Amino acid sequence: MKILVTGGTGYIGSHTVVELQQAGFEVLIIDNLSNSSEVVVDCIEKITSKKPHFKKIEMCNFNEMDSLFANNTDIVAAIHFAAKIEVGESVKHPLMYLENNLLSQINLLKCLEKYAIKNVVFSSSCTVYGNPDSLPVNENATIKKAESPYGSTKQMGEEILEHTVKSFNLQNISLRYFNPIGNHKSNLIGEIPHGVPSHLVPYLTQTALGIRQYLNVFGGNYNTIDGTCVRDYIHVVDIARAHVVAIERLIQNKNKSNYEVFNLGTGIGFSVLQMIQAFENATGIKINYKIIERRSGDVEAVYADTTKANNELGWKAEISVEEMMRSAWEWEKRLQKEKNKL
Ligand code: WQD
Repeated sequence: MKILVTGGTGYIGSHTVVELQQAGFEVLIIDNLSNSSEVVVDCIEKITSKKPHFKKIEMCNFNEMDSLFANNTDIVAAIHFAAKIEVGESVKHPLMYLENNLLSQINLLKCLEKYAIKNVVFSSSCTVYGNPDSLPVNENATIKKAESPYGSTKQMGEEILEHTVKSFNLQNISLRYFNPIGNHKSNLIGEIPHGVPSHLVPYLTQTALGIRQYLNVFGGNYNTIDGTCVRDYIHVVDIARAHVVAIERLIQNKNKSNYEVFNLGTGIGFSVLQMIQAFENATGIKINYKIIERRSGDVEAVYADTTKANNELGWKAEISVEEMMRSAWEWEKRLQKEKNKL
C-alpha cells in the first residue's frame, strides 16, 4: 500500500516517512523543495535501508498533481504536510501564505476525489486554539480567531476538510501538533531553520554553539510559574508515530466519523526558562539569555489535553524533554558541520 506524503522532505514529514517505512508502508514523497532538499531522501534511505519514491511537484499546479495521481494509481492514502509554516513570514506575506497553503490543499483534495482515494491525514496545529480559555486544552475548545495568516491557513484547512468530507467519501484525521522539537536518534534528519531561527529550540542550540551571543527570552512577566511563556514541547518522532497510527486507523476503517481531530502533545507545559534548564541538564552547557519584551502574537500558555489521542488512538508521547534537548543539540552540531550538504 502506497502512502503519498506531501512535504515529505521537510522536518516532520521526513520523520513520518521513516516511521511509515518501518511500519511496512511504501511511500511516495512529493515536495517542491522550497524549504528542504532532496538529500533528505538519501538520509531516510540510510535510516530505513529503503529509498522512498520521490517526485518534485508544485502542488499549486493542478496539472502536475493530476498527472502524479494518474501515474500512481496504487496510492491508498495521503498525509498532507506541505505548507509554509513561518508565523512571522506569514504576517509579512499573507497572500503568499493563503495561496500556497490553501491552493496546495485544494489541489490535493480535488485529486483524491477524482481518483477515489478516501483517506487523508492533515497536519494541523495548536495554533488554532489561540489563547485558550482553560488549560489543558482539549479538541472541543473554542477555535479562536487566528493571530497570524499562518494560523488562519490551519483553521481554514480544517474547515475545508469538514466541508469536503461531506461532499465525497473522504475520511479525514486532523492532527493538531503542539511544539515539535528534537530529531531522529540517527542524527541524519532534523529541523533546518533558514536564516535567524524564529523557533525557540534552534535559536537555543545555535546560542549553545556560539553562533548567537545569547538567547532572547520574549517576556518575563506572564502569569506563569516563572513569568515566561509555557508550551507543550513534543519530540518529533512521537509526532511521526502518531501519523502511522492515524493512517492505519483510516485504512482499517476504525475511525468513528469521517472527520476526526486529535491533539498531539505530551500534556505537560514547560516555560522558556524550564526549557533552558532542561537543555543545561541534558548537555551540561550553560545558555546565555536575556529576558526582553514580549513577542507580539505569542500566547501566554498552551498545552494539550491528550486524553482523546491516548484513548482513541492508543497513542501517547513517550520521549522525555531531556532527550528532546539532547537530540536537538547533537543535530545542531551536525548541521553546522554539514549544512552546505543538507
Ligand atoms: C516557543 C516559545 C516564544 C524564540 C510555533 C508555531 C506554531 C507551531 C509550533 C506548527 C514562545 C519563546 C521563542 C526565541 C523565545 N508550529 N521564544 N525566544 O510560537 O509556540 O509555535 O511552533 O504547528 O504554529 O508558531 O514556537 O518556538 O517560536 O516559541 O523566548 O528566540 O519560546 O515566546 O513562548 P511557538 P516558538
